[in-house]
Amino acid sequence: MSQEIKDRFKQFVAPTYGRFPITLDRGEGAYVWDTDGKRYLDLGGGIAVNCLGHAHPEISQVLAEQSSRLMHCTNFYHFDGQAKLAENLAKRLGQGRVFFCNSGAESSEVMIKLSRRFGQAEGRFEVITAENSFHGRTMAGISATGQAKVKDGFAPLLPGFSHVPFNDLDAVRAAITPATVAMMIEGVQGESGIRPASAEYLLGLRELCNEKNLLLLWDGVQCGHFRTGSFQSFQAILGDQLGDFLPDAVGMAKSLGGGFPMGAVWISEKHADVLGPGTHGSTFGGNPLACAVANKILEIIDRDALAQNAIEMGRFLVEGLTAIQQKHPDEIREIRSIGLLIGIEMGGEVPSFDDKKPASVQWVSALHEAGMLTIPAGQSVVRFLPALNLTQAEAAEGLGLFEQTIEKLTA
Ligand SMILES: Cc1ncc(COP(=O)(O)O)c(C=O)c1O
Repeated sequence: MSQEIKDRFKQFVAPTYGRFPITLDRGEGAYVWDTDGKRYLDLGGGIAVNCLGHAHPEISQVLAEQSSRLMHCTNFYHFDGQAKLAENLAKRLGQGRVFFCNSGAESSEVMIKLSRRFGQAEGRFEVITAENSFHGRTMAGISATGQAKVKDGFAPLLPGFSHVPFNDLDAVRAAITPATVAMMIEGVQGESGIRPASAEYLLGLRELCNEKNLLLLWDGVQCGHFRTGSFQSFQAILGDQLGDFLPDAVGMAKSLGGGFPMGAVWISEKHADVLGPGTHGSTFGGNPLACAVANKILEIIDRDALAQNAIEMGRFLVEGLTAIQQKHPDEIREIRSIGLLIGIEMGGEVPSFDDKKPASVQWVSALHEAGMLTIPAGQSVVRFLPALNLTQAEAAEGLGLFEQTIEKLTA
């Protein structure tokens, strides 16, 4: 069964992804099963998407109910679920308005179009982003992304992007030109292996953007939606220093739909009319199914105090990983984390590893063998991005499998 599916992938599915040889069949809570019946503990969460785990009964129910009521509603019309979700998101940020789209890359597009339109009258269009950032795979997304590998072969890119070292305010200041219109950042760089912004950097950026009349665009696609213990990561990073700090726009996707594809951008009230009627649109954006699911997810996160759980389980995992690191300092070089965004910098000197694939991918493969899903990043990082409702028993099981895998590979 599994081989037959993989063969059909090879023949009929575009080869854009380096896929692991796993063929999944179903999931429940923190676990998924492959077509051969093998069970995996999912600490990867579908790259920070399955925020309530798999097949959550309340999500399945709300989807079924909404699908038998109204499955699609063109944005020519109004419906309750989209209004409710916009309000639900805005109340967690501040007065502003929400544009709905279908993915993280689309949310980046919205923010880039917002900045172009904002600066148009003055001829300003340049957006500064961070080195090693990731903002999606559309042409604007790869132009904005501060990594050469995603741009390779796609020239000419969209003009008007420059990249500066992350967490370096002087570098941003030096990169500003008369044409600069915005600064776009992830609060915690995800694809480059979990690197949080510092509080000083964020406060400095806000001040600099105010001084130069630049938009501060926040990519919360991976680090948002309570993964840090707060709705958006700037709230977690700034803590007591939050004050009235707010970006001018916040992009969301991934956990927002918990597995149902959706994206959104909150735009502060001050700039909410920059993208006026006819300037942007999406056939499916803010679809009734997506909104019903997203509203239910927010209700469950609040009801079950899952933001707090993200903090506690994050702490528990990091304490456990630190204990393993003490025994295996060559294999675990560094642990970077905030809530349930955990990046483990792994060593690559494992006798059975070959030099053709990054160590990150080989560690993740070894963890698959042990019965656990995690997500590689770059050359050497293994990410844990599990569901926000992970239990301590599940986290402990993951730590056990992780340690066993290290011991097996280094025996
Ligand atoms: C920070 C960030 N922005 C944007 C994206 C793109 O999201 P999507 O794959 O939904 O287009 C990602 C995806 O990993 C991301 O991590």
